[in-house]
Amino acid sequence: MNSPSERPVFIHGGVVVNDDREWRADVLVEGGVVKAVGLDLNVPSDALRLDATGKFVLPGGIDTHTHMQLPFMGTVAADDFDIGTQAAVAGGTTMILDFVIPQKGQSLLEAYDQWKQWADPKVNCDYSFHVAVTWWSDQVADEMKVLAEERGVNSFKMFMAYKGVFMLEDDKLFHAFTRCKELGALPQVHAENGHLVAEGQKKMLELGICGPEGHLMSRPEEVEAEATHRAITIADQVNVPIYIVHVMSKGAANKVVDARQRGKLVYGEPIAAGLGTDGSHCWHHDWRHAAAYVMGPPLRPDPTTKDHLMRLLASGDLQTVGTDNCTFNANQKALGKDDFTRIPNGLNGTEDRMSIVWTKGVATGFVGVTSSNAARIFNIYPRKGRIEVGADADIVIWDGDAKRTISAKTHHHAVDFNIFEGMEVQGVAVTTLVRGRVVWRDGELVPAQGWGRYVPRPCWGPAFGSVAQRDAQRALYHQPVKREPYAGPVIQL
Ligand code: URP
Ligand code: ZN
Ligand code: ZN
Repeated sequence: MNSPSERPVFIHGGVVVNDDREWRADVLVEGGVVKAVGLDLNVPSDALRLDATGKFVLPGGIDTHTHMQLPFMGTVAADDFDIGTQAAVAGGTTMILDFVIPQKGQSLLEAYDQWKQWADPKVNCDYSFHVAVTWWSDQVADEMKVLAEERGVNSFKMFMAYKGVFMLEDDKLFHAFTRCKELGALPQVHAENGHLVAEGQKKMLELGICGPEGHLMSRPEEVEAEATHRAITIADQVNVPIYIVHVMSKGAANKVVDARQRGKLVYGEPIAAGLGTDGSHCWHHDWRHAAAYVMGPPLRPDPTTKDHLMRLLASGDLQTVGTDNCTFNANQKALGKDDFTRIPNGLNGTEDRMSIVWTKGVATGFVGVTSSNAARIFNIYPRKGRIEVGADADIVIWDGDAKRTISAKTHHHAVDFNIFEGMEVQGVAVTTLVRGRVVWRDGELVPAQGWGRYVPRPCWGPAFGSVAQRDAQRALYHQPVKREPYAGPVIQL
């Protein structure tokens, strides 16, 4: 039989929604791409017909931040590239951006190859890789160039936390950001002050606070906000755009807003967890429950944080929604049963991301924040993030009225806990297509391991549009004053 995407698909009766327009139209898919959008289309007799009457036909979601099968904190994330992408497509997401995270001293290229070998045979949806820069040397700078020019990596993540493991000091951040600028790649940061986190952890343990609540107490909002501001400042000195991953607090989000208002090139990414729940769970009396919410930067105890972040998405001050999907079972979280600093950081989100956004903030410009903005920022638009002729047929038929109750008993993750347990959400993916292949339909997965493709992302995306002009403007100011040399006496040392 031919490739599953070679059978045409005809989606009829629905309302097609792009980030700038919605209208009644049918969609014809052939060879994995959108062949036609409109009414009275010429439909091949062998086409699979999908009825979208009363429903929306949306560009598939793009989860900008996942960690499938990440080796981390002494264990490996439970959702691998198979189960994790099954969960993604069950929720209407058709592409994930995962992270290659080399160990300190490890070749970036070797790590990239390793991650790709893990992903390729397993992925049920398309994917791409951000690559983390966890140490600095000429070799790293050289390998960034190879990744950018030959492997389609146009974003690099730097950690300001995880002292002694992944953290880079400010001078190294400056060098890494500068390299990104030379390559036309977007620097991303995990913004937390790693020194203050380490001191805060010591203090909490000395106070006898060993449970998950110590995780939040040791790294308060200010620690995230300070690092966010510092990252933006360093990027601004380099004159390179910057993307703040997992914006978790009002303080950090407000730093992004302030900087944008001052004309800085900054993007901010909240995650599903931060929009759908909060950090008060870390005070729960059941240790497993409390530990399930441990991630970094932490979910905040302030329950109004989620509405704040959602409003900033709606106003365009924050742009994308990721998940930081990095799941650990109870017995893995239990590595930190006597010491919160050893609880593997991470939680679920990729399956529920789109439903959370629909439920909490349907007025956000849903398609933009769940798909198109990411495609633009990471320079794969309009191949991804849009329904138009020639685009990849990554499509979700979305029932905006349907409701479901989230539960670990029914979710598609490999993990034994769901941080949104019991939450009733509105907005459900009825059918999900990845490059024209049906991978989820009416509550059932259609297995497609290995169907997903690595999506190379070219450098010099739209974020770089005004960089040259800004450099030219600064060059006008960065001029020496022409003056006579000082001719007076100089003290003898
Ligand atoms: O808690 C988190 N965020 N785990 C994954 C690693 C990271 O910092 O993104
Ligand atoms: Zn991070
Ligand atoms: Zn992450």
